[in-house]
Formats: sequence, structure tokens, C-alpha cells
Amino acid sequence: MNDKKRSSFTGKIGFVLAAAGSAVGLGNIWRFPYLAAKYGGGIFLLVYILLAVTFGFSLMVTEIAVGRKTGVSAIEAFGRLDKRFTFVGYLASVVPIIILPYYSVIGGWVVKYLVGFAAGQGSAMADDAFFGQYLSSAAEPVIWFLLFIGVTAAVVMLGVEKGIEKVSKIMMPILIVLILVIAVYTIVSMDGALDGVVYYIKPDLSHFSVMTVVAAMGQLFYSMSLAMGIMVTFGSYMKKDISIEGSTHQIEIFDTGIAFLAGLMIIPAVFAFSGGDASALGKGPGLMFVTLPKVFDTMPGGTLIGAAFFIMVLFAALTSSISLMETIVSIFCDKLNMKRIPACLIVFGISVALGLLSCFGYSILSDVTVFGMQFLDFFDFFSNSILMPVVAFATCILVGCVLTPGAVIGEAEENGKHFRQKKLYSVMIRYIAPVFIVLILLSSILDFFGVVKI
Ligand code: TRP
Repeated sequence: MNDKKRSSFTGKIGFVLAAAGSAVGLGNIWRFPYLAAKYGGGIFLLVYILLAVTFGFSLMVTEIAVGRKTGVSAIEAFGRLDKRFTFVGYLASVVPIIILPYYSVIGGWVVKYLVGFAAGQGSAMADDAFFGQYLSSAAEPVIWFLLFIGVTAAVVMLGVEKGIEKVSKIMMPILIVLILVIAVYTIVSMDGALDGVVYYIKPDLSHFSVMTVVAAMGQLFYSMSLAMGIMVTFGSYMKKDISIEGSTHQIEIFDTGIAFLAGLMIIPAVFAFSGGDASALGKGPGLMFVTLPKVFDTMPGGTLIGAAFFIMVLFAALTSSISLMETIVSIFCDKLNMKRIPACLIVFGISVALGLLSCFGYSILSDVTVFGMQFLDFFDFFSNSILMPVVAFATCILVGCVLTPGAVIGEAEENGKHFRQKKLYSVMIRYIAPVFIVLILLSSILDFFGVVKI
């Protein structure tokens, strides 16, 4: 997607796989399960799916159409459609700069667990205190983070991401099978896991809160790589004879399917291990690193399965971090007229600086909080719950009020394609989505400043 001359995907499958490859990452395997566990289980899942098929669908169609129509990446595209919206392109471009550093810190945790399992220390990692102790050491997480971001930068610098993508096409199906195996194993072999399945799948209104919607919405943006210009760029490489609506559906099914399975793998296991204690579900970012090692520890051949699992997750994470970095580097090259290598080095430098903050937030800087949050949580919250809704809102206004939905529908119906859900689309993008986003944004800002605890 990053060639200087605008190359295009050969066909629909190529487009869908490339977009899904960028969308599927730590967001699905690490972030979705812990949010679902924390914000109500079944009710979170339901809200998420409802948002995905209405809201996520409309936004993704819009971004792809904007990209294909203008043929340029986000930082240019918005301004080309309307001068007053140039800032949206810039704002969208800031998001990956905030995400990449902390994404790589978590990538570093994955490397640590992979190395641990490969070295046969699976049992030590299954200990409750292990993850916390690891995080609070000042040096080790930094080393693995630097390794992860270093490999990412090397791939982007050498321009060999195509090779990595090929490997990940093989790894992805294996990852899905592994997730399924682990999920089925925990559910059938552990007492209490079935209750976890019920918690995860059955919506319980008493677990609903405004934060369920806020979190589900943030996750939707994050997981589908929306509201940060990524899908605009992808759209700019898409040929006119491919259906935007059909591809969007497929990307969504792919992305949501993997997230769903990851939840099925982790949430029942947490239930089983905590004996149904709900507070164990609120563990947050550490969930995958605390619970899964225990599952592996009790499995026959668990060391091997654990190592295999973390290697797959590492690949999913690397393909995403590479395309995050690639996005930022191409913005620097295009906008600041920089050469590729210096741009890579600068992006690497910024990422190391911000990533170190996230690492140290758990160790030597653990007393420093930003609005009551550790650095990593703050970066995550600020990009997903503040910046991305602002970008999404501006996109809705641009398409809904300035250009009118007809512009996007026209693009989606190029080459005689039929846009089946265009009624839903127009209503969503014009009325429901913008109102909804403002409400969400307000509630997360109020929550952010601690004005109200939602
Ligand atoms: N969607 C990715 C995930 O689920 C993370 C991500 C967000 C991303 N924005 C991106 C990946 C941009 C590549 C490019 O993990």
C-alpha cells in the first residue's frame, strides 16, 4: 500500500485480506477480551456488534469511498474534498503516532512471554504475581519494547513488509485454529468455565453502563483501524470495479470474528480460575498475560502451545505495528518532503521516547499519572476515546452535511454496483452517528476529568 506510484490491489480478495491484515492485531486478541470482561460481558458484546454493523459499517464505507474518490491518503483527502476540513486529515494522522509507541510496548510484553515459554519457564509465568513483577522492573520491559520497535523499524526501513505479510497469511489461519483449540479445551476441561461462557455471551442489562458504550465505540475504532485515515489510504488503492459495501462486510466479519473468538478463549478461563469472582474480570490490560499462562500451565504440552500461541500473536502484532509505522513514515515523506530513511529514524525516535514513558509508567514513573491514568492507559484513552471520535464526527459532518451522503453512495455504486444498505447509511452518517459521537465524546471527557464517574 505504500508504493510511491499508486499501485492497486488486484482484486477483492486482495483488498479484503490486506485491510483485514492491518485491522487484526493486538486489538482483537489482547484489547477486546479485556474490555469485554471489564464492561459487562454479554452486554458489551451485544453493544459492540450492534455498533459494528451500523456505525462501524457506515464509517468504514465512508473512509474507503473518500480514499477511492480522491485517490490520495487521508492527510490530503479531506482537504481536497473541502478546504475547511483539511485539519481532519492532520488530526487523523496524529492518531497512529500516539498508538504506535504503546502498541510496541505491548508487543514487547508478547515477546517476553514468547521467550519465556520457549525457554520452558511457562510455570513461572503462570504465577499470579509474575506479570506485575515483570512490569515493575525498570529494565526488562524496555529491552523487549526496543526489540519490538527495532524490528518494526528495520522492516519499514528495508521495505520488506511484503515478505512479512506473506508469512502472516499462513500464520493467521493457524492462530485462529489455536485460539479455537484453547477455547474449547478450557471450556470442556475446567470447572466453572461454562459460567464464563454465559457471562460472555448472554447480555445482562444490569451490567450496562454508559462506559459500556464508550468503551465499545473506542474499541470499534481501534480494532477496525477507523478514524485515523488508514482506511482512506486503503481505499485510494482500491479499483473501481470492487464493491465497497461487500468488502466492508467481509472486513468486519473477519475482524469481529477473531475478536469474538479471542474473548471466548480468555473470559471463560478467567472465570474458571477466579471461581466466578467478578473482580478478576476487571484486570484490564494484563488479562491476557495473567490468565492465559495459567491455562497453558494446566494443559498437557502447554509449554509448546503457549510458545506457539505467543508467536502467532507476535506476528499479528508485527503486521499491525509495521503498517502503523509505514503510515506515519509516508506522512512524513509526503508532507515534510523527507527521504524514507531519515523519516524512519525520526519516527523511531519519537516512538522510543513515547514508548519509554509507557514502560516507565509501570516502574520508575509509577507515581506519575496523567489525569489519574498511567501513561499507557492515558495514550490509549486519549487516542481512542478523544481523538478518534473527533475525527469520526468531523467525517460525518463533511459527508453528511457538506458533500451529502449521495457523494459516498455514488462512489460505492460505481461500475453498476448496487449499494443495498444505502438508506441505513444515509440516516446513520447524517443523523445518528454524529449525535451519538458527540454524546460519547462528552461522556468520555467528563469521565476523563473525573467530573462524573460513569
Ligand atoms: N486495528 C489494529 C488492531 O486491532 C490496531 C491498529 C489501529 C492499526 N490502527 C492501526 C494497525 C493502523 C495498523 C494500522 O490491533
